[in-house]
Amino acid sequence: MSNTYAVILAAGQGTRMKSKLYKVLHPVCGKPMVEHVVNHVQSVGVNRIVTIVGHGAEMVREHLGDNSEYALQEEQLGTAHAVEQAKSILGDLQGTTIVVCGDTPLIRPETMAALLIYHQDNKAKATILTAVAEDPTGYGRVLRDASGQVSQIVEQKDATEEQKLVTEINTGTYCFDNAALFEALSKVDNNNAQGEYYLPDVIEILQKQNEIVTAYVTPDFTETLGVNDRFALSQAELLMRARINERHMRNGVTIIDPASTYISADATIGSDTILQPGTMIEGQSAIGEDCIIGPNSQIVNSTIGDGTKVHSSVVLDSAVAEHTAIGPFAHIRPDSTIGSHVKIGNFVEVKKSKLEDDVKVSHLSYIGDAEIGENANIGCGTITVNYDGKNKHKTVVGKNSFIGCNSNLVAPVEIGEGAFIAAGSTITNEVPDDALAIARARQENKLNYVSKLNLK
Ligand code: UD1
Ligand code: MG
Repeated sequence: MSNTYAVILAAGQGTRMKSKLYKVLHPVCGKPMVEHVVNHVQSVGVNRIVTIVGHGAEMVREHLGDNSEYALQEEQLGTAHAVEQAKSILGDLQGTTIVVCGDTPLIRPETMAALLIYHQDNKAKATILTAVAEDPTGYGRVLRDASGQVSQIVEQKDATEEQKLVTEINTGTYCFDNAALFEALSKVDNNNAQGEYYLPDVIEILQKQNEIVTAYVTPDFTETLGVNDRFALSQAELLMRARINERHMRNGVTIIDPASTYISADATIGSDTILQPGTMIEGQSAIGEDCIIGPNSQIVNSTIGDGTKVHSSVVLDSAVAEHTAIGPFAHIRPDSTIGSHVKIGNFVEVKKSKLEDDVKVSHLSYIGDAEIGENANIGCGTITVNYDGKNKHKTVVGKNSFIGCNSNLVAPVEIGEGAFIAAGSTITNEVPDDALAIARARQENKLNYVSKLNLK
């Protein structure tokens, strides 16, 4: 949309959260709530976004990076004062400004777009996004005059008993004519119960100047939830989770039990993938088509190729290719790359390793700082001995090699292609291609010996 700007209010302390973490950085479905808000505003397509930061300013900037410009509100004197801090950036511009609170992560981009259109169609100077709440406690109430026109917003703490009965609430999202906004802001005072400069007072100021002030009522109250405390945070989490799960199901993903399935806002999942109960897909994860994830799997910032199964396992910051089977009870730690048609079985830990296609590590192994060539078979109980107490060292296993059960590969060490390591070996030296390495004590049988021990 042309000449459209956004101000995101994110400087408040968030006292009611009772937290060391700055309120708008509390995650909802794995992403800080203010980041949801910025992403939603971005998808509406505004020209500039200014985030008002105060408490934890540096951390907010770190999270949002180049997605926003910033204005610092040194003292939190109220939401009107917060918006005023954007004056040096937006004050001289002509156009429409949408103001959104950083603690309302559920307002959909579609709703913001509808609000903007409603505002423009009505040629209004200000339009409030409102909703009808079953329990309006805590929200600013929208007061209308006899003709139904919006006249004022009154905060919970300033409301009379009669005003408290009003169920239409201010969602904290507004559209303003940019010039009218900054002019009206200079007239807001702090003569109220909280001694704050309230942004909603701009509505009354403009209305009294006979400007057009309207309200767009969104039908879905749940969108407008403002997260002020941990209880509301859990409600926001629940609502957003349901929304994310529904989107994936409508796109062709089977979720056996949505109530126990947690998918981050930014994860992508291909069609015909089945998510079993107890599955968490976190961060920037991309799951392919025809996968089976779960039950009880956690995938964080990882890619999983088509047709791969991850059963009761954890995959962190790694890439897994197609038609691979992981688990049950495997742990793939960061910086691992797993090829296609690989099998990683129960109680296997892989760390910072590359496993080429068709590798098998079926049971009870630790593979750390290793490169395992194509089609190698790593027998049960194999350990890459990668740590000498000070440094980590690398293990390289050539393609088509066979590592017998219960082998120790003491790194740094290289096993050639097509090599064979006898079970129970402790390998400390290079094994050439095609060689059989046996590194264990020879078996000795002492015949007729046990009965002589006279143990009974
Ligand atoms: C605000 C509205 C209320 C509305 C509700 C919707 C005001 C006075 N009240 O109340 O009408 O129903 O949102 O959720 O605006 N902030 C700053 N600087 C400040 C104060 C706040 O940046 O000096 C930011 C906060 O970080 C937050 C947002 O503004 O993201 C709203 O502040 P908050 O204290 O949560 O206001 P509410 O009491 O929820
Ligand atoms: Mg709030």
